[in-house]
Formats: sequence, structure tokens, C-alpha cells
Amino acid sequence: MKLLTLLPGLACLMAFFLCNGSECGTVRGKARSKRELVRIREAKTTFPGACATRLPRGKRSLPGMDRRSSRQSRTGDNNSGRGKAIYFTGRGDQLRLKPGVEIPRGNFTLEMWIRPEGGQRSPAVIAGLFDKCFYASSDRGWLLGIKAVSEQVNRDPRFFFSLKTDRAHKATTITSNARYAPNQWTHLAVTYNGQHMKLFVNSAQVGVSREQSGEIFSPLTKKCKVFMIGGNALSNNYRGAMEGVALWGRARPQQEIAGGMRSRQRPSDPSLVIHETFENPSRKWLTVKDGSFPREGPGLGGGALDTSLEPPACGQTICDNVEVAASYNSFWEFRRPRTVRYRVVNVSDDSRRRPTVTAKQISLQHQHLNEAFGPYNITWELSVHNVYNTSLRRRLVLANCDAGKVGDEECDPECNHTLTGYDAGYCRKHKPHCPPDKPGNGACDPECNVDAHGYDNGDCCNPNVTDVTKTCFNPSSPLR
Ligand SMILES: *[C@@H]1O[C@H](CO)[C@@H](O)[C@H](O)[C@H]1NC(C)=O
Ligand SMILES: *[C@@H]1O[C@H](CO)[C@@H](O)[C@H](O)[C@H]1NC(C)=O
Ligand SMILES: *[C@@H]1O[C@H](CO)[C@@H](O)[C@H](O)[C@H]1NC(C)=O
Ligand SMILES: *[C@@H]1O[C@H](CO)[C@@H](O)[C@H](O)[C@H]1NC(C)=O
Ligand SMILES: *[C@@H]1O[C@H](CO)[C@@H](O)[C@H](O)[C@H]1NC(C)=O
Ligand SMILES: *[C@@H]1O[C@H](CO)[C@@H](O)[C@H](O)[C@H]1NC(C)=O
Ligand SMILES: *[C@@H]1O[C@H](CO)[C@@H](O)[C@H](O)[C@H]1NC(C)=O
Repeated sequence: MKLLTLLPGLACLMAFFLCNGSECGTVRGKARSKRELVRIREAKTTFPGACATRLPRGKRSLPGMDRRSSRQSRTGDNNSGRGKAIYFTGRGDQLRLKPGVEIPRGNFTLEMWIRPEGGQRSPAVIAGLFDKCFYASSDRGWLLGIKAVSEQVNRDPRFFFSLKTDRAHKATTITSNARYAPNQWTHLAVTYNGQHMKLFVNSAQVGVSREQSGEIFSPLTKKCKVFMIGGNALSNNYRGAMEGVALWGRARPQQEIAGGMRSRQRPSDPSLVIHETFENPSRKWLTVKDGSFPREGPGLGGGALDTSLEPPACGQTICDNVEVAASYNSFWEFRRPRTVRYRVVNVSDDSRRRPTVTAKQISLQHQHLNEAFGPYNITWELSVHNVYNTSLRRRLVLANCDAGKVGDEECDPECNHTLTGYDAGYCRKHKPHCPPDKPGNGACDPECNVDAHGYDNGDCCNPNVTDVTKTCFNPSSPLR
């Protein structure tokens, strides 16, 4: 999309493209312009209707994570709060909670980290609450799992959360907005508050329903309820790793889920019913008949989730496929008018000054888009979202440059920028000479502000010495 390059200012914007029409919005393309990739990393909010999770997919994200874990082992960090990971083979190692734990009847939250392998059976039950007395109704209770939502070849496997209170006639199922990412650590959370059931993937809310209401089961049937992880009694088992399972007796709000996901602290809260770190699974869990305990698996390694943002697939759809688009030209009947909705996020200072773009620029671009696409029966629908946040406004957005990549001892071209000190020096061909007396001398010396010299031994991240928004490159500094 050449037109987007009209306004350089737009580089700092997030624009969510939503393709409107059944033919659009399914196929994800690979090639994207650098400019499109420029996103605001800190954007936490998900906008209704927009592509809700912006997660790295597939190969690109994995190296970042691996490197990050090596960084962490270097600094001797550990993940004492989350505990160990276990690995389910999917063959008889599902676990059942021992009796004695009061499973929430009403409001609840279930959270965990998982790393599902590819090719799960459908459905694959990751965790669930079952009724062992009521065989006639196997869907009583609730389930968190993965299942195919399409009959097509790719089957489009997604996370799902289904719930059926004992009084309800049928179960309600909500699914995530996109396929699950195999072999990638993902944070899952589901909540129910007697009115809404919600599904969160990496703390972004991706599904909600208010079809079910009231308590899930009555005190009378308490003894029938079994909480299981890794599968169910019918062996619809999950294959992959799991870590840090927590069950709460209340519906945690999204903010809390997001905060907890980032924190490596052990959660402490009176409403916490189960916090399983898998240090000693046999203490609280039972295996199924002839089954075994899952073995210890490769853990998340204390690394925070690699949430480097992936541009939404919406901009790259089957409509961008030249062959498909060209074939439309020969069948004018197919060319129904289309509307593409997009959103410009306009970030300004707290004082509402210094907006990334002016209203005039936005309307100019909008006008050009409509002029250019109008002849093809495509119109653009603009919405503007204003954010007033000085700290965010000052931030630099580098596409795909995850903080963990800066200064990781190799040059990542996507992080090569003056505001990362050319990837903390690793992208510089000619390394400047740093005199040994300069690091830590109380002045920020650019020639020493590289990883190899401890970022000038902290001088360049010291707000008393320098403008840290311009010189602090150290990814481990909170002032970066
Ligand atoms: C690692 O975990 C142990 C307890 O398992 C704790 O004593 C130690 O302080 C932790 N180290 C770090 C760097 O957090
Ligand atoms: C469940 O949550 C809802 C909404 O937050 C609240 O109104 C209700 O009192 C809670 N129910 C229980 C049993 O705590
Ligand atoms: C962007 O933000 C600035 C500053 O708050 C404001 O003046 C301007 O009108 C906004 N642009 C649009 C298109 O809303
Ligand atoms: C636009 O739509 C009209 C009918 O609504 C059709 O006649 C025309 O050929 C379309 N133009 C293109 C370029 O598809
Ligand atoms: C402003 O943006 C920063 C990130 O730069 C974020 O940490 C902070 O929470 C935001 N403040 C508000 C009020 O949203
Ligand atoms: C990094 O950027 C600088 C300046 O833009 C350029 O001179 C240098 O060649 C780049 N390094 C790499 C490895 O791309
Ligand atoms: C900056 O100066 C303040 C007050 O002089 C001091 O308390 C603080 O420790 C200094 N910060 C650093 C990083 O040196």
C-alpha cells in the first residue's frame, strides 16, 4: 500500500485494518512493508472488533524468547513464583484434583501458562470441571481446551472455553479470535462471574458471552465435581507443557490478569483456591486408572512472555493476493462495494500537545485513500482513537524489535536505531574506542554506551546525568 507512505508521521500510528466481507480476512501474508510493521508496543487495550491478540507467530518469535532465557540464566534469575513446568504426553497422564479442595461454585478464574504442541486432537481438554455422577450430561461444568472450528483442511484450531451450569439446557462455548500458536508459551485465563464468561489469551480478552448465568452447581452436587488438567475422563487429552496453574474463587478483572501474567511473584490472595507449581504433583493430584504422572517439562524459564507485537493479519488478506484480485477483474459480478474500517491511534502528550499526527494529516490521508480506492468500489471508514500519555508519546516504536533482542550479543537489524545505540553497539561495524576510565565516571559517554561496556556502567541510564529518554538503551533499566 503505497498510499500509506504519503505521510511520514503515520509511521507512529497503529492502524487497524479490518477487511469487511466474507472473502477477506483469512489468509495471512508474509511480505509486509516495514512501515506497516511499525506499531506501538505498549498498546495494551484491545479494541472491540480489532484483531485482539498481537502475538508473534511461528519462527520469528522463537529466537527472541530463546535468547531471552539465555540472558536470564546468565543473570541467575529464576522463576520461583511460577514453579516447574510439566509435560503431558496426551496418553494417560491427565490429572485429577484430590478431594478436599473447595472448587468455586460461582465466580471463578482459571489461569495457566501452556505450551501446546501442534496437531492436537479436537477437542483437546486442557483443564475442566466435570460431573462424575451425571453421565447423561457430559458437558456439565466447564472446559478450557483447543478445538477445530473449521471443517477445512487447516481446521483452524483455537482455544475455547465452554460452560454449562447445572440448570442450563445447553453449554455455551466461546473461542479465541485466532488459531493457537503451537510450541509457544501462551498465557490462558478464563473467568466467570455469574453473568459473563470470558476468555483471555495473553491477557487480551478474546471472547465473551452472557448466555450462562448464576451458580455453576449447587452445594448438593459438590461431591460429584472433579477438576482435571491435561485431559478428561474420555481421554480427550492435551499434549504439551503447562506451568503455574491458578484457580481463584472470583472473576479477576482483565487488569489483574495482565498484571499477574507479567509478575513472577507468587500470587497471594485469600480467593486463591489452587496455586499449583508442580514441585510435587502427587501431593494434590491423582492419576487416572493405569495412568502416570506427567513428567517435568521444559519451563518458561522465568522469561516474561514474548509479546512483541505482530501486525494484524487484517492488512494482508486473500484480497491482497494478486491472482485472486485479478480474477475479480474478469467477473464484475463479484465486485460488490466494500468498506474497509481502520483506526488511527493519535498519541499526544498529557497536555494534549504534540500529537503524532494532526487532524489535517489524518483527513488528508483519508481523502487520498478514498480517492484512490473509490474507482474499485472500496471505501474507507476512519475512526480516531486519542491517547494522551507523555511517556507513551516519547516512546520509540521499532517493529519486531523486542526489548530482549537489544544487546543480546548479536546484531538484529530490526533493532538498529540510534535510540537503541545501534542495538547496543552490536550493529556497529566500527566499534568506537571507550577509554577504560569513562564508564561510571558520572557522565554519559556515547562511545561507551554499549552492552560490552555495561552501558557506560549505568551513567547513560541515570536521570541525574542525562536525558534518559534519549540515551538509556539498557533493556534491563526501567528507564529505558
Ligand atoms: C531462586 O529461587 C530460590 C528458591 O527456589 C531463591 O532462594 C533465590 O533467591 C532465587 N534467586 C533469584 C535470583 O531470584
Ligand atoms: C460474582 O461476581 C459478581 C460481579 O462481579 C458479583 O455481583 C457477585 O456478587 C459475585 N458472586 C459471588 C457469589 O461472589
Ligand atoms: C490528535 O490529537 C491532538 C492533540 O490532542 C488533537 O488536537 C487532534 O485533533 C487529534 N487528531 C484527531 C484527528 O482527532
Ligand atoms: C462498482 O459497482 C458497480 C455497481 O454497484 C459496478 O457497475 C461497477 O462495475 C463496479 N466497479 C468496479 C471497478 O468494480
Ligand atoms: C502511559 O504509557 C506508559 C508506557 O509508555 C504506560 O506504562 C502507562 O501506564 C501509560 N499511562 C496511562 C495513564 O495509561
Ligand atoms: C545500522 O544502521 C547504521 C546507520 O543507519 C548503518 O550505517 C549500519 O550499516 C547498520 N548496521 C547494520 C548491520 O545494518
Ligand atoms: C539522583 O539524585 C538523587 C538526589 O540527588 C538521588 O537520591 C538519586 O539516588 C540519584 N540517582 C542516581 C541513579 O544516582
